[in-house]
Amino acid sequence: MTLNALLDIELAVPNPAELMEFWERHGMQRTASNVLGTVDRPTQMTLREAPYRHLASMHLGCSEEKDLSDIAGRLREAGLEVTVAGTTLTCVDPVFGHRVVIDVTDPHPLTPGQARPFNAPGQRTRVDTRADAVLHTDPRPPRRIGHVVLGTPHTAKAVDFYVNLLGYRVSDSILNGLATFMRVESDHHNLMIQPGPTSYLNHYAVEVDDIDAVGLAGRAVVSERDDASVVGVGRHNLGANVFWYLRDPSGNMFEFFSDMDQILDDEVWARDFCKMDWEGADGPAGFSVWGPKDPPGVFFNPPDITAIAAGRVADGLD
Ligand SMILES: [Fe+2]
Repeated sequence: MTLNALLDIELAVPNPAELMEFWERHGMQRTASNVLGTVDRPTQMTLREAPYRHLASMHLGCSEEKDLSDIAGRLREAGLEVTVAGTTLTCVDPVFGHRVVIDVTDPHPLTPGQARPFNAPGQRTRVDTRADAVLHTDPRPPRRIGHVVLGTPHTAKAVDFYVNLLGYRVSDSILNGLATFMRVESDHHNLMIQPGPTSYLNHYAVEVDDIDAVGLAGRAVVSERDDASVVGVGRHNLGANVFWYLRDPSGNMFEFFSDMDQILDDEVWARDFCKMDWEGADGPAGFSVWGPKDPPGVFFNPPDITAIAAGRVADGLD
């Protein structure tokens, strides 16, 4: 049970060249003909063409070869096909249909971002100069892909696959188990499974340095397409990340985020935080602690959801 990294993802979209150019304009680097990376991580998103947009592959890391054989054993016991070649395991997600590839690898460290000096009552850390975000309005570049959120009518089966078979660790669960935040790293979530009208990619999330980076990066996207914003800026309750959700040229929702909760000690987290009554008398924890109170309807039902459902049927997926 020692998955240790979300390494990268593959997206299939009708217009990969347009999506490639979009992210090149917004701070990612083309590191191969169909691959986007960041300064620290040369492979973060691989793009390929498909009739409808979907997650095509999720690439994970684990600590040692024994982890691969343990995972392979659990998958086979559950009746799933799995291939192990050297230090790489490959299988197919039984709900969404994308490939899951797991490599034995060390987690890839990130170079710390340069902290901006903030002033606060009784604490003057920036004097006689304007704020960094005022002086440097070009957005800081994306640092990595931090998580994906998947919607599906088959939440229980999906959670079982990721938690019980692959070994994702649960950080929070709401809606009486219908929505589950889970991780393979210290981030509060590298994956969330939530209800959806069909099995689809709800969003992928791009980590940036801080709240100013979220704001500046989001504004740069909106300045190109003023209808690109879906919801933001705000701070989530669960994960605590600052968020701004936007739509890329392929119709995928993506999130610029920063400052997510980090979990190193499962026992402390489970004892002190998981037990918090997120279902609550007033319903489950809200979408945000500040910022927009609720997301718009398209957050859960994107405009192309019918095309995605039809594409899945054509591919023999339900
Ligand atoms: Fe997110």
